[in-house]
Amino acid sequence: MPLIRDITPADCSVVEELLDSNDLGVCGFYNSEGLDVVVAELHESVIGIAEFRLDYDFGRDEGRPAHPGEQAWILTMAVADAHRRHGVGRALVTEIARRAQDAGRTFLALVPQDGDDAADRETFFQACALAPIEPDGPGAAWGCPVSEILTARGAASVEGR
Ligand SMILES: CC(C)(COP(=O)(O)OP(=O)(O)OC[C@H]1O[C@@H](n2cnc3c(N)ncnc32)[C@H](O)[C@@H]1OP(=O)(O)O)[C@@H](O)C(=O)NCCC(=O)NCCS
Repeated sequence: MPLIRDITPADCSVVEELLDSNDLGVCGFYNSEGLDVVVAELHESVIGIAEFRLDYDFGRDEGRPAHPGEQAWILTMAVADAHRRHGVGRALVTEIARRAQDAGRTFLALVPQDGDDAADRETFFQACALAPIEPDGPGAAWGCPVSEILTARGAASVEGR
């Protein structure tokens, strides 16, 4: 399994390529300032990345007043093509859930990217225990209690810390 660790400045060019190649590009030099970012490292290569926030008030900031306040939120994530379907994506989500729990957060959410492969992405997030929390449609959020991610099948095998 990969090591899941914080990003370092040396990772930025690989992360930039990884995001660009998945149409999640940053249009310029990658800068993780203001974000929490973890990478998945295998054999000294970065093969996955996830950007997240542990203090995102997506209820208020995103016009979801009924939702609880500050919670964990995944902004984006990607795994290198050659390393998919080996549990790397799940390892990234699990590590974020662990960090969320440590920070006292109880809920983790995100908005799956639209477009090609949307169905595969949704299958992935379902496998990580997330589910839609809003009526289906563009920009609809998915989420679940952090505890459900940590007890989902496969979550315990992550080498994160
Ligand atoms: C979505 C993504 C991060 C998943 O990463 P991954 O490392 O391949 O995912 P995992 O191997 O941890 O998958 C865990 C489970 O999710 C499901 N899953 C993952 N990818 C899937 C796919 N393409 N089709 C169907 N199910 C899939 C499977 O149930 C899988 O378990 P299994 O392999 O034992 O059957 C990766 O495909 C990716 O980077 N996609 C392009 C960028 C992207 O869509 N990012 C999300 C933006 S919101």
